Amino acid sequence: MKVPIRIRRQPDRTSRPTYQTYEVECEAGNTVLDVLNKIQWEQDGTLVYRRNCRNAICGSCAMRVNGRAILACHNLIGDELEEGHGQITIQPLGNLPVIRDLVVDMGKFWAGLKRVDPTVSTTNLPERESLQTPAQRAKLQAAANCILCGACYSECNAVVGDENFVGPHALAKAQRLLADNRDDHTQERIQQYTQPNFAWDCTRCFNCNEVCPVGVQPLNRITEIKQTILQTPDLVESTPLRHRHTLVDLVKEGGWIDESKFGLQVVGNGGRSLPGLLSLVPLGLRMILKGKLPAPWHFKASQGTQEVRAIITAIQRKP
Ligand code: SF4
Ligand code: SF4
Ligand code: FES
Repeated sequence: MKVPIRIRRQPDRTSRPTYQTYEVECEAGNTVLDVLNKIQWEQDGTLVYRRNCRNAICGSCAMRVNGRAILACHNLIGDELEEGHGQITIQPLGNLPVIRDLVVDMGKFWAGLKRVDPTVSTTNLPERESLQTPAQRAKLQAAANCILCGACYSECNAVVGDENFVGPHALAKAQRLLADNRDDHTQERIQQYTQPNFAWDCTRCFNCNEVCPVGVQPLNRITEIKQTILQTPDLVESTPLRHRHTLVDLVKEGGWIDESKFGLQVVGNGGRSLPGLLSLVPLGLRMILKGKLPAPWHFKASQGTQEVRAIITAIQRKP
């Protein structure tokens, strides 16, 4: 069959992108990479993209097809035609600057990975190799599958909101290190991963779980990091951590969240952080001008407060 393949072309970092359509003779069982190769080898040698293993191992050929990140050597043309209702549009990964055509600059992706300190840290090196039991190894398995393809980073909404967010791939690696019994920097890691731009800044959009081609399920790994953080006593307070604790405390107090206290507790650290309090002033003024600042006496505890409080207390008592 002859299939029209629409590809985003961009000759260099600064040029405006355009779309070019190629008519390609192919079969439903061909991969997207087979078709790109056909275009490059038979029709247009100027088309640029990355490839290497052709076996979903190296992660080089990640790109967007019909609006979501995939591995070109893994996904079949027949499936993509169905997904795109008869259309196939190929674009470079999102959230990363284009170098040329389908090749992106992965610098931000690698920088995010570096920020979680991505190698096992062992202060006292053993004389022989550190053997792990199957159960110890199982805790790392999902994250260890990562092939660093960038598909999750491409679709991550937290990166869209703030490019300083380290990325789902980095947090999957962070969980792998927290769970590794050979790593002895656990306390420092927990303290770091609770800071802004790490675990708490994920928006839980599920996109990373949806697109990851090898089942890392980064969102699930991020949830594991959060559970570890919340179970760790004596952590130095941070805004994200205070956010979680304040939320629970306020719901326990009034059955729902008293917004007038929320900002003061979280950002103003209960009145102890002058920079935090000052940062709230512009927002407070805007709210007053718009008549949207509720007076504290306007807040009424919900009718089910006793019940909500009992539920939270029961959950908190659970071992
Ligand atoms: S779930 Fe979180 S980490 Fe995953 S893509 Fe969404 S915002 Fe990013
Ligand atoms: S977590 Fe999955 S999608 Fe993200 S870089 Fe690793 S293999 Fe790719
Ligand atoms: S070419 Fe290696 S993953 Fe596709």
